[in-house]
Amino acid sequence: MLELEGDTVAAVLVEPIVGSNGILVPPDEYLPRLKEIAHDHGALLICDEVMAGFGRTGEWFGCDVFDVEPDIMTMAKGLTGAYQPLGATIVTSEIAEHFEENMFCHGHTYAGHPAAVAAGNAAIDTYREENLIERASEVGEYLGERIEDLAEKHPSVGDTRGVGLFRGIELTKHPEKRVPFGTREDKISPGSTVVDEVSARAKEHGTYVANMINTLIIAPPLTITEDEIDEAIDAIDAALEVSDAAMDSVSTT
Ligand SMILES: Cc1ncc(COP(=O)(O)O)c(C=O)c1O
Repeated sequence: MLELEGDTVAAVLVEPIVGSNGILVPPDEYLPRLKEIAHDHGALLICDEVMAGFGRTGEWFGCDVFDVEPDIMTMAKGLTGAYQPLGATIVTSEIAEHFEENMFCHGHTYAGHPAAVAAGNAAIDTYREENLIERASEVGEYLGERIEDLAEKHPSVGDTRGVGLFRGIELTKHPEKRVPFGTREDKISPGSTVVDEVSARAKEHGTYVANMINTLIIAPPLTITEDEIDEAIDAIDAALEVSDAAMDSVSTT
């Protein structure tokens, strides 16, 4: 695309680890190469850290997993631990310096709202004081191991992916053909999919599990303990019986 579009491209914007579309972790060389290729074409690299940022991956930011410093980062959710609505865009000094002399004409009604910004500062202090980023890395390993236990036990678990406390369990009707239980079309159609039913069953067992199309999204608070992870895994374990059973009836299709 960059070759085709030439110098009309201002920037390439990516989530370092794709969140809602299924917790997609790229190969290690992907983000460094993307930055290199973007810069070769005079384009900036923007990392969307709205989901992956602030410890979710066990690093401060998703791009840290790949040792890449983007030119611009966007952030929200974890910036205040979601206690106040706050989003921010961070740029390198080089980009910031440009605006010492050039007007950046942009505004929001509540931009820089003191209450939200105070929550942002408090959240960042708390991440540091309670070592929540390192914690996410440690308990994240444990969560990954427990998800592998589920994968071994349940035939309807297809791929499992993730880093730290940012993990996904993909469900499949057919392990060899990797037929998904839920598709993009299902998402915009009325009615519920088997994946929705799995989430609903987990909720009955006391654990809220978001799902997106065909993936259960496992992204607990960074303060979660190993005991709480076990409790959640038990609930997901019970819920996966729903997809295992649905699989038996459809596995020939
Ligand atoms: C990765 C990602 N980027 C951007 C957004 C949108 O963020 P905002 O609502 O702060 O504009 C979301 C919202 O869920 C998101 O998950």
